[in-house]
Amino acid sequence: MTATDALRPLRRLLIGHGALLMFIGGVIGFGFLFHLIGAITLWPFPGTIEFQMPGSYKAWRMSHLEALMNGSIIWLVAALLPHLPFSITGLRRLSYGIIVTGWTLVAGALFDALFPNSRGLAANSLLTNNIAFGLFYVGILIVMAILALIAWRSLRPEPPSP
Ligand code: HEM
Repeated sequence: MTATDALRPLRRLLIGHGALLMFIGGVIGFGFLFHLIGAITLWPFPGTIEFQMPGSYKAWRMSHLEALMNGSIIWLVAALLPHLPFSITGLRRLSYGIIVTGWTLVAGALFDALFPNSRGLAANSLLTNNIAFGLFYVGILIVMAILALIAWRSLRPEPPSP
């Protein structure tokens, strides 16, 4: 089995999660739209539900773009996978890590759109804010570790070949 064959299931997993995250970005886009127009309505379908979606412009914009960007980054990782300086086990851990990062950051950002005062910038006495904070904490720790490792492995001088 070649290295490319061994990576195929991992790349499919990354491509699938990237696509799903971007799809969710589109779904969040509808929440964003309904928030902006202050009603739930979709031309040319009949009927309008007068309902003001919670959240702020900033919160919806962040979750919309967080999902689209994280999905795109996961696709980028899928494309770069054969070129990253890690063993298959390392690449598997890195792939799971970037997938967990994508979902935690998007879920964290959605809390601010759906619940009041839940931006998750720091822990406080509000449960929904703390869930967002915890999700960001996990996602950011993982992605910073992944980026530092990629930088370290890629930039250090290559060991002499035997
Ligand atoms: C792959 C698909 C999509 C991409 C790449 C995309 C990208 C973007 C970008 C870059 C913005 C500008 C954000 C800003 O600076 O304010 C935006 C805004 C927005 N998107 Fe999307 N979007 C996508 C799909 C959708 C879908 C399916 C909807 C559903 C209706 C949607 C609804 C919105 C709304 C309502 C805004 C705010 C517009 C405004 O501020 O006037 N998007 N989107």
